[in-house]
Amino acid sequence: MPRCIRVPKKEGEFIRARLADADLLDKRHKIRADGDFLEIPVLCDSFEEYESHESEAEEREIRPADYKEILDFPDWLAEELPNSYDIIGDVALIKLSDTLLPYKEQIGNALIEASPSIRAVMLDDGVKGELRVRKLEKIAGTGSSETVHKEFGTKIATDPSLVYYNPRLAGERARTALEVKKDEVIIDMFAGVAPFPMVISKLARPKIIYAIDLNPEAERFMKRNIELNDANCVVPIIGDARDAVEDLPPADRIIMNLPQSSEEFLNLALSSAKSGATIHLHRVLERSELDDFVSAIVDKARSEGYDIRISRTSELKTYSPTMSVYVFDIVKN
Ligand SMILES: C[S@@+](CC[C@H](N)C(=O)[O-])C[C@H]1O[C@@H](n2cnc3c(N)ncnc32)[C@H](O)[C@@H]1O
Repeated sequence: MPRCIRVPKKEGEFIRARLADADLLDKRHKIRADGDFLEIPVLCDSFEEYESHESEAEEREIRPADYKEILDFPDWLAEELPNSYDIIGDVALIKLSDTLLPYKEQIGNALIEASPSIRAVMLDDGVKGELRVRKLEKIAGTGSSETVHKEFGTKIATDPSLVYYNPRLAGERARTALEVKKDEVIIDMFAGVAPFPMVISKLARPKIIYAIDLNPEAERFMKRNIELNDANCVVPIIGDARDAVEDLPPADRIIMNLPQSSEEFLNLALSSAKSGATIHLHRVLERSELDDFVSAIVDKARSEGYDIRISRTSELKTYSPTMSVYVFDIVKN
């Protein structure tokens, strides 16, 4: 019998999205409603405060359209095929091992045949450089990598070959948005195409959200997203957060989604945070170094004269066999 977690219906979509972000949703079984609760099939023993248990869940029909079945590769090759890939809007991004590269067009075409909502398939060489942009090569389909992705009722225009956007953070964006109180002043220091500001302006009532990014390509996508979502409280700023933040008013909430080096900017964020403000700091870390990292940022902040506490630590996704991406909610006392 599959394992499920039992969550109140009103939390359902929020938890489902967070499970999907973490690749812990059991997609082979269907979600079942039971009164005011949902039984959500999972691939883990527990998720946040929810323990999993054996539960009835109907099996999803295995679609003959699964791209691996369409390819019908011999076992030695089929076992190299990725189980997951990202879909942003109508564009699929897939990473392939060297062994699979000679078959890239075949694999791309199979993905389109399996999921007709996919317009183009891009071979993804991973996120690179300070601007966190992907090197993409079209291997099947039509058009460019520019697309519009739907996330929690918002529309996010983006092009992963020009600007950073990660659909797997949808659950974290919704969680952050649900914490926002009316009339907050918010700074998103590393906003990309501004998905955090879009989801926050959709789900909450902030006064203003400053969306900063270094990448000049981000500007037109931020502006388009403001239009697409009527997010008139969002102010795009193109430039280095080091310079931009100093000109902004004190904030109630600061988002720091720069997982490779966010702590280098923590002092700057603390200097712009009101007393009682929350800073959401994202960081990729060796799992074994989590405690040391927390002690180091608290000690460093104290040595700079800031009294802070970490109100929440959450593992957002696995980054490598030994590393994960974490978010720390830091409260400035
Ligand atoms: C991991 S991405 C986060 C994007 C966005 N928050 C999201 O959820 O899709 C980090 C972003 O920070 C930007 N960036 C890097 N260094 C920066 C700096 N010094 N100041 C402002 N933005 C910067 C990059 O261009 C990139 O778009």
